[in-house]
Amino acid sequence: MLLAFAALLVVLPMVRERFPRTWWYAVSFPILWGRIRFTWRRLAWECDLAVTRKRAHTMIGGILLKGKELDPVIPRLWMGWPRPFSVTARARMLPGQTPDEFVNAAKAMAHAWRVHSVRVSSPARGEVEFTISARDPLATVTTPGVLARRKHHGRPWFRVSVTTETEESPGAVAAARLLRIFVGLLEDGNPWVLDLRLLPHWLITGATQSGKSTLMNAAVVELAPRPVALVGIDLKGGMELGNYTARLSALATDRPAAVRVLGHLVDVVLERTTQCHIAGVRSMWDLPEEIRPVPIVLLVDELAELCLATDPKDKADALACSTNLVRLAQLGASLGVHLLVAGQRVGSELGPGVTMLRAQLGGRICHRVADPETAKMTLGDKFPDAVDAAQSIGPLERGVAIATTNEGGWMRARSANIGAEQAQRITTDYAHQRVWLPGLSDFYLPGGGFDLPPRGFGLPGGETS
Ligand SMILES: Nc1ncnc2c1ncn2[C@@H]1O[C@H](COP(=O)(O)OP(=O)(O)OP(=O)(O)O)[C@@H](O)[C@H]1O
Ligand SMILES: [Mg+2]
Repeated sequence: MLLAFAALLVVLPMVRERFPRTWWYAVSFPILWGRIRFTWRRLAWECDLAVTRKRAHTMIGGILLKGKELDPVIPRLWMGWPRPFSVTARARMLPGQTPDEFVNAAKAMAHAWRVHSVRVSSPARGEVEFTISARDPLATVTTPGVLARRKHHGRPWFRVSVTTETEESPGAVAAARLLRIFVGLLEDGNPWVLDLRLLPHWLITGATQSGKSTLMNAAVVELAPRPVALVGIDLKGGMELGNYTARLSALATDRPAAVRVLGHLVDVVLERTTQCHIAGVRSMWDLPEEIRPVPIVLLVDELAELCLATDPKDKADALACSTNLVRLAQLGASLGVHLLVAGQRVGSELGPGVTMLRAQLGGRICHRVADPETAKMTLGDKFPDAVDAAQSIGPLERGVAIATTNEGGWMRARSANIGAEQAQRITTDYAHQRVWLPGLSDFYLPGGGFDLPPRGFGLPGGETS
């Protein structure tokens, strides 16, 4: 008996270490299930989630007495099926209750159930859903090497069905295939998908070294094998986006070039508007496949460099840039032009157009911030409750961000750690997929309309003029 017990003591931790998933389903989840069931009544009572059958106040001898009800009704709780290291549960709210009360109790629940976190949402009227994460799923994101290797062979990273709706038009199916970008993991263990059909434009903020470019790398690596034109504006001299030159249709590395690229893209959008108008459709995706133009994803790294000009000579260019970005954001959504804009700050000090631009960038991603203002600027107007969460991201949590979810809420997420070298290698492998944009790309195609590329435009092979 003793020997068997000793063997178990040795073997069980090993099993736990080597097969964490099996351990979760076989041991941790049943224990958690029991703990939740066992503690729910007391927890609901202690956290004021119970309502009374009786009145909570009464008159005794002319004195009004208020107190905790003695006959509490506890919200009913249903447990969902377990997922890897997490489980969801739903509770039916009682009359007079709001989801906020459950949100306030989330920390107490996490402690009582000894889990990493409990997130509360309200997917249906009268119901709250708890996403219970047993461990921090963002602590270990898929190893970048595996991701890069798999990409290298053209296989998708995550197997997610393109669309579940069978009645969608061919255009909608194509849009789903091209515009859903898997960039990392969400806190609930699901893939982190930037769905450009739902949120066409994204603002990515964060202090220096917080993971903005790494997220951009993950997005570009996903887009590289697809028939999508990638255009870059990187006024840090092409230091960041220059890695993808082989796959970019155009890269502007100084402000005059950026003005030119943006002006050209606005023209492209206006042309597409006419094309849709003639065809009698309201979106580029409703055009027949033979004449449907390719979607364009514009990547901007460091918005401040683009829009902030101290020299009066540059001010007109900076204004032109922010105005054209706003126009692209306004018009581009249904015409296949999408923006991914990264920057350390997005305040009004960057110029009059930037606040307007921020309003147009519906998708928000906020990494670790250096000051509360940046978190407020990125998330405050849409998710005031996410500002605190963004501020609590620590310096060691590189790549962790608060992101808009496709359901319209927010969640913690972590990008896949795709370094510059990997991004460069993979984009070079997909150089043959580079989309030629007449009027932009021909500057540096051999035999193109110009002998020399204009200043500030990238050359194939990573050079810039
Ligand atoms: N998802 C991640 N997982 C692990 N490490 C990450 C992740 N994202 C970023 N890092 C680490 O953080 C470092 C800085 O990331 P990155 O260059 O993307 O920051 P940045 O916000 O673009 O900084 P800057 O504003 O200076 O350009 C990277 O070298 C990488 O090692
Ligand atoms: Mg960067």
